[in-house]
Amino acid sequence: MVDLNNFTNSHKVSVAPMMDWTDRHCRYFHRLLSPNAYLYTEMVTTNALIYGDKDRFLRFDASEHPIALQLGGNDPKDMTICAEMAQDYNYDSVDINCGCPSDRVQSGAFGACLMNEPKTVAACVKEMGKAVDIPVTLKCRIGIDDSEDFDFLDRFVSINAEAGCRIFIIHARKAWLKGLSPKENREIPPLKYDIVQQIKDKYPELHISLNGGIKDVQAVSDHLKDFDGVMVGREAYQNPLFLHALEKLLYPDTSDIDIEAILTKMANYADEQKKQYGTPLKSISRHMIGLFSGTRGAKHWRRQIAERAHADDAKGQLLLDIYDEIKAKNR
Ligand SMILES: Cc1cc2nc3c(=O)[nH]c(=O)nc-3n(C[C@H](O)[C@H](O)[C@H](O)COP(=O)(O)O)c2cc1C
Repeated sequence: MVDLNNFTNSHKVSVAPMMDWTDRHCRYFHRLLSPNAYLYTEMVTTNALIYGDKDRFLRFDASEHPIALQLGGNDPKDMTICAEMAQDYNYDSVDINCGCPSDRVQSGAFGACLMNEPKTVAACVKEMGKAVDIPVTLKCRIGIDDSEDFDFLDRFVSINAEAGCRIFIIHARKAWLKGLSPKENREIPPLKYDIVQQIKDKYPELHISLNGGIKDVQAVSDHLKDFDGVMVGREAYQNPLFLHALEKLLYPDTSDIDIEAILTKMANYADEQKKQYGTPLKSISRHMIGLFSGTRGAKHWRRQIAERAHADDAKGQLLLDIYDEIKAKNR
């Protein structure tokens, strides 16, 4: 039985699953900025895990806890096999992607189009829940295409709650399955937080995390009065210091950020990854491009990382060298 209080305490602020962005290097970096945010992997398909190099997809650093594995799939048997893998690898929860509208995902009949198939999702929830002790969660939209506003989402939530899902992360936008790219689908359909609020009001016993367009500390603070958790995506990635600000919101005793200490840890991490896996610095530094966002060093940092981290022999020390240049410029 999932301890919902425990989950909610650890899931007040979470960082959204983002393909090509929230890989393990990105998460390692985010964890340094935010010791407590709940982190998510990118979506991983069941086929990739069952037929591919599962260790490559699943391994993560112990510091990344609490962390969820997000799955893309629709077959209860395969989803259960992958949920068991998540548990074996010590993930803290396993999430079903019911929000991605990309063509590739639609052709596999999972992601957002699963919102049209609540019983298929419920079958996954049920089987996965029987097989693992970690929470099985659902990340979905408020609807798809021309679905009615509240009733469609209500039906989806109710059928899946009945199947045992206690935790819903809701991106407060519809997904349009035809005519919009995934990027447009994160921008054009209007945000409707009130629909998610109606779900929370109707199902107070469920954990409901709100997602979509949340970009500042005040908004997070306000939404946490109405919802059990807030999930942040693009703002956390593009302006990682936002995560530190959120940490301070939740834990006011958090000490001020020590950029030098963080860069030293990232430099050591990069050198270690290079030694162990041959990972080039650029695969790690690309997630750090936004670190100085909104400050005087932003442009120099972005440009120097882009120009110098690509060299084959680039070492972690480069991060500290560029930081020294920024400090010298600002003196
Ligand atoms: C580059 C990128 C990749 C994404 N990949 C995923 C994904 O793999 N799974 C998923 O559920 N959502 C994915 N999303 C959607 C985010 O999880 C989130 O729901 C969305 O960005 C809205 O939150 P935000 O406004 O705080 O960014 C992705 C978003 C971005 C920007």
